[in-house]
Amino acid sequence: MTQTIDFSLHGERVLLRSWRASDLAPFAALNADADVMRHFPSRLTREESDALVMRIQTHFIKYGFGPWVLEIPGQIEFGGFVGLLHVSFDAPFTPAVEIGWRLLPQLWGKGYATEAAQLALRYAFESLHLKRVVSFTAPANLASLAVMHRLGMQPALPSEFQHPKLPPGHHLQLHKLFEIRLEEWLSRKA
Ligand SMILES: CC(C)(COP(=O)(O)OP(=O)(O)OC[C@H]1O[C@@H](n2cnc3c(N)ncnc32)[C@H](O)[C@@H]1OP(=O)(O)O)[C@@H](O)C(=O)NCCC(=O)NCCS
Repeated sequence: MTQTIDFSLHGERVLLRSWRASDLAPFAALNADADVMRHFPSRLTREESDALVMRIQTHFIKYGFGPWVLEIPGQIEFGGFVGLLHVSFDAPFTPAVEIGWRLLPQLWGKGYATEAAQLALRYAFESLHLKRVVSFTAPANLASLAVMHRLGMQPALPSEFQHPKLPPGHHLQLHKLFEIRLEEWLSRKA
């Protein structure tokens, strides 16, 4: 990793921090896990995983934000990622910033993804002054849809789309699209 962006967001139980070279190996293990990658077209090789970190770093350098590493201080140094990303393809709802998450299975079912995503959303609305944040996933990814629901995200327009990076007819091509707008974020805080 040639350049790091020193940046962190602190929650009650979670820390969102910048990436370190020591995150590459555990991230590759996460991306090679069949359960974790169940709703993705394929698991990632070590090379693909490392290349993804490079793209994340480039995103941080270009925009000043991205998918942060999730750390559980005092327990787990690398717990996956949660963060914000410019949608990298053209669709009826782009340009847009999406929020996403991918956690170690041992951290599932503890509320960490939602807590970390709330930190990222606060940053999106209160520091980046975004007007809206979207999220999308395959309909079968109930855990991810549940995180969106807990965050107060609502079906967007369109509420579904065919993911343009997947070939027509691919079983994961259909995605559900959710959004949260600044006004909703502010009203939920009030
Ligand atoms: C998507 C993903 C991050 C969701 O993780 P998750 O653990 O279900 O979500 P949270 O961290 O918000 O945890 C919520 C659960 O913790 C429970 N929980 C336990 N203790 C809690 C606490 N102290 N506070 C809040 N919730 C708590 C909640 O009740 C909820 O349980 P439920 O799902 O049985 O209702 C995870 O499944 C994942 O990494 N999947 C693989 C990657 C992936 O598919 N990413 C999304 C691609 S679009």
